[in-house]
Amino acid sequence: MKRPVIALAMLDGLVDHAFTATHFARLEAAGEVLDHTPLTRFDDDRAAAGLARAEVIVGHWGCPTLTADVLARTPNLRLFAYAGGTVKWQVTDAVWDRGIVVTSAAAGNAVPVAEYTVAMILLANKGALGFRERLRDPTALVPLPAPLGNVDKRIGLVGASLVGRHVIELLGAYSLRVAVYDPYLEPGDAQALGVEKVDDLDALCASVDVLSVHAPDVESTRGMIGARQLAALRDGAVFINTARPALVDQDALLEHLTSGRISAVLDVTTPDPLPTEHPLLELPNVFVTPHIAGSMGTELHRMADLAVDEVERFARDEPPRHPVCRADLERIA
Ligand SMILES: NC(=O)c1ccc[n+]([C@@H]2O[C@H](COP(=O)([O-])OP(=O)(O)OC[C@H]3O[C@@H](n4cnc5c(N)ncnc54)[C@H](O)[C@@H]3O)[C@@H](O)[C@H]2O)c1
Repeated sequence: MKRPVIALAMLDGLVDHAFTATHFARLEAAGEVLDHTPLTRFDDDRAAAGLARAEVIVGHWGCPTLTADVLARTPNLRLFAYAGGTVKWQVTDAVWDRGIVVTSAAAGNAVPVAEYTVAMILLANKGALGFRERLRDPTALVPLPAPLGNVDKRIGLVGASLVGRHVIELLGAYSLRVAVYDPYLEPGDAQALGVEKVDDLDALCASVDVLSVHAPDVESTRGMIGARQLAALRDGAVFINTARPALVDQDALLEHLTSGRISAVLDVTTPDPLPTEHPLLELPNVFVTPHIAGSMGTELHRMADLAVDEVERFARDEPPRHPVCRADLERIA
């Protein structure tokens, strides 16, 4: 068992929320933790001393980018264990070129997003959001699902991602049917997941009671939910976006929502968060939250668990459980 030198790098103040005493005890047992106060920048004297020795960087939100210049000053780095989700802001080609192992805690972040999504699906099918608005204003034009209820409804997911797969698992507890659009999903995987694979996004939109988006923001997904897909949604359908705003034509969405034909639950919007006077906040058939579906509070501990687990595995010479590969970046979040 090796005892790697470990540096922490993340936003000031985040470490105390994300990492418990147990996480620190595990890191201390696995290697030499340079400092419990994380590096927030890589260009000062403290960083220079830490980077010169670090074999492992445990990163989190706010970790500075690992550029070629930073790596030149981090000659021993072999593992970047990221306790956040996407590594796209931190990792550059220089990291991949040097063969540094990169891991992510996106699987941990997927759990609360999936829980938020499933909670919203269940409430939406009950008409809870619409009935609440009708109580506040009986004349409000609020669409209700037709029929109401959580039996035999068809839920459409865009993306068999980490979040999408956890949604599928959680929905297994209910009497709902799940259909998935994801060009990367193999038919055998869809069968194993117990979902129907739909190869045509428009056809999926036209056939579901709820459409929930879980694809990453990459070139091929931007604007994938456009005017045509929104028009294909049935009257009374509910559109949920916890993924990224760029996937959706928000102007077209606003038009469909203003008409009162469909409802929406939006955790991500443009801008993110919305200003108080934004029209989406005025509509009775839209439930907006300011990008809260991902980990917050105690949920951050789950992500730290995954990162610490990777450090322990590295110390034991075991392969990582959640590696990120350069080749996957064009299809993952
Ligand atoms: N609201 C929040 O707080 C929050 C938190 C975490 C993640 N997210 C977002 O949720 C989404 C899912 O995150 P994740 O970590 O589960 O993603 P992921 O990296 O696990 O998902 C990527 C998967 O999406 C699928 N995909 C790729 N291109 C597609 C396409 N054109 N159509 C359909 N599917 C496609 C592929 O199967 C790929 O494996 C992302 O947009 C992410 O940014 C939001």
